[in-house]
Amino acid sequence: MKGRNPFPGALAAEPTIGGTPVRRLRVPVGGRSVRLWLKLEAENPFGSIKARTAAALLDALEATDELRPGRRVVESTSGNLGVALAGLCRARGYPCTLVVEPSTPRAAIDRMVDYGAEVITAGEIPGGTTLDARLAAVREILDRDDNTVWTNQYASPANPRVHEAHTAVELVEAAPDGGYDAVAVAVSTGGTLAGIATHLRRHSPATKVIAVDAVGSAAMGGTPGDRPYKLAGFGSGRVSDFVRRQHWDSIVRLRDVDAAAACTRIRWRTGLFLGGSGGAAVLAAVVRASLDPALRELACVCPDSGDKYPRLNEAIPADRRTDPAPGFEPATADDPVTTALDLLDHISAEGE
Ligand SMILES: Cc1ncc(COP(=O)(O)O)c(C=O)c1O
Repeated sequence: MKGRNPFPGALAAEPTIGGTPVRRLRVPVGGRSVRLWLKLEAENPFGSIKARTAAALLDALEATDELRPGRRVVESTSGNLGVALAGLCRARGYPCTLVVEPSTPRAAIDRMVDYGAEVITAGEIPGGTTLDARLAAVREILDRDDNTVWTNQYASPANPRVHEAHTAVELVEAAPDGGYDAVAVAVSTGGTLAGIATHLRRHSPATKVIAVDAVGSAAMGGTPGDRPYKLAGFGSGRVSDFVRRQHWDSIVRLRDVDAAAACTRIRWRTGLFLGGSGGAAVLAAVVRASLDPALRELACVCPDSGDKYPRLNEAIPADRRTDPAPGFEPATADDPVTTALDLLDHISAEGE
């Protein structure tokens, strides 16, 4: 996707999005060497895969003239989409209001504000989820001000479409001979998963799709529940509008704390600091590989890096200590997630 700047004077030029690198890791699983192909989406402008989504959402609204000079963009975000939207709105000359929630990392909010966005933190609605509270705040803004436009990452077809047309194509281009045996994708709105799965079903039908969701998330139809150490951008308080049954072969549900522990182990062994969703995708790939010996080459979509998540650091001592804080208790010994976490102690960058 080439950048452009219709409103010169805002930012020098809109950055080029996509074309992110793939890094290979190896992990021993059940006597064989499994190769993981990590798509490092933190290398996008604004630090995450949501740069792709944000550009696509704005492009779609501009194409129908719903978004035009003088209008204000509004969106609900847990962090990454907000940072990318704030940066792109700055480049394109639109004012922008972003509704975040208490778990949104401070570093993400600071970046939104740096780009000139107005940021509103929605609290809890009694009996509702934090997402309900964010969406209620968005609707209130839309009702109050006719000049506002909602990019609506939860329902805009531009969201899955950009991942089908770009993220998935790049991933497949980087694949080994014979393609990937499986691809693991963490779910929030489900746009990334639905888009990638749509492309794979057509162009790499033998590849299994692993949907990775958080315990306590409703995104893949799970029971919404308490998430004391909720990782921003992983899982959702509502069922995905995009994901259909044909899009996935298996679902791996992980506790936030286990996704965080995966990030710390990968970081210790390889120096690669993934955000919680990337850690979850790697852990889920290893869980599936340990259950299915046919899986040898697995791709993992890594939406961002761990830089802005202090909670990942909280999990470092909790992962190893004998007196874990509440919510950080290790999984039980015979659990496939525990086995997979132990395998991550032997992960290495390819060639090492
Ligand atoms: C941290 C994080 N996790 C997961 C995802 C996947 O999100 P979605 O299902 O909304 O495409 C994203 C964004 O794309 C993200 O930023």
